[in-house]
Amino acid sequence: MLPVLGIMEGRPLVANDEPVLDPSRLPGHVAVIMDGNGRWAKARGLPRTMGHRAGVDRLEELIRTAAELPVPILTVYAFSTENWRRSRWEVEALFRLAEEVLHQRLDRFNQEGVRLVVIGQRERLPGSLQREIERAESLTSGNRRMLVNIALNYGGRADIVQASRRLCQAVREGRLDPDQIDEAIFASFLSTAGLPDPDLLIRTGGELRLSNFLLWESAYTELWVTECLWPDFGRREFLMALADYQKRERRFGRVSSQV
Ligand code: IPE
Ligand code: IPE
Ligand code: MG
Repeated sequence: MLPVLGIMEGRPLVANDEPVLDPSRLPGHVAVIMDGNGRWAKARGLPRTMGHRAGVDRLEELIRTAAELPVPILTVYAFSTENWRRSRWEVEALFRLAEEVLHQRLDRFNQEGVRLVVIGQRERLPGSLQREIERAESLTSGNRRMLVNIALNYGGRADIVQASRRLCQAVREGRLDPDQIDEAIFASFLSTAGLPDPDLLIRTGGELRLSNFLLWESAYTELWVTECLWPDFGRREFLMALADYQKRERRFGRVSSQV
């Protein structure tokens, strides 16, 4: 069990040496690019897959911390449409790991009130993984404490293309008038339909790029990149990212209120 952070209504408290957070200004949706597993493993003389394995515990810790704060929505990048370019061995190991996590940790997530949803093109995933996904989604569908979207075989461009295809279909069938299409209607065809855009996007592993993650949704998202590799990204790093987010002024194109 993780120690309780000790945040009280409207009053930030410091627990141990953790950063001070303002509970009234927590982000509603945080997206995470969990990068750096391979480098973490390499530095220890281990195969890359051991890095992915080590990363799973950090994901569980992240979810638990988010539920506790609360940060009600997390979207985590687990496998991109570009990750098929890796060796077959690594790709298969990643899918096996995803299946194992859904199988072994599902009851725990469920008991903690976590709703799991997988976004991305699941048709190309192994059948056994697709079945675990369906089981996880249906078992947790009534949970309301927090939502965790797992982006698996997800690509921002692919998602925009599938949304466009379904939009055209709706027009062809006379369900939608092209003149009605606006940003909100377009967004309702994306795999993140109905969710607020991420307020904060965290990337571990130090790369300064989006790697095809949530391209539409992150138009005004605050970015936070750390050199910390994903298997080293613990509760404290997450709280540091949130503390930094709370210092930002989100202008959305407006002029600063400070000047
Ligand atoms: C991220 O870690 C996990 C996935 C992309 C599945 P990497 O495997 O990309 O780790 P690095 O970037 O090579 O260190
Ligand atoms: C992004 O990491 C994808 C995931 C974390 C799942 P990558 O390691 O695939 O990104 P690039 O290739 O360095 O941009
Ligand atoms: Mg990487």
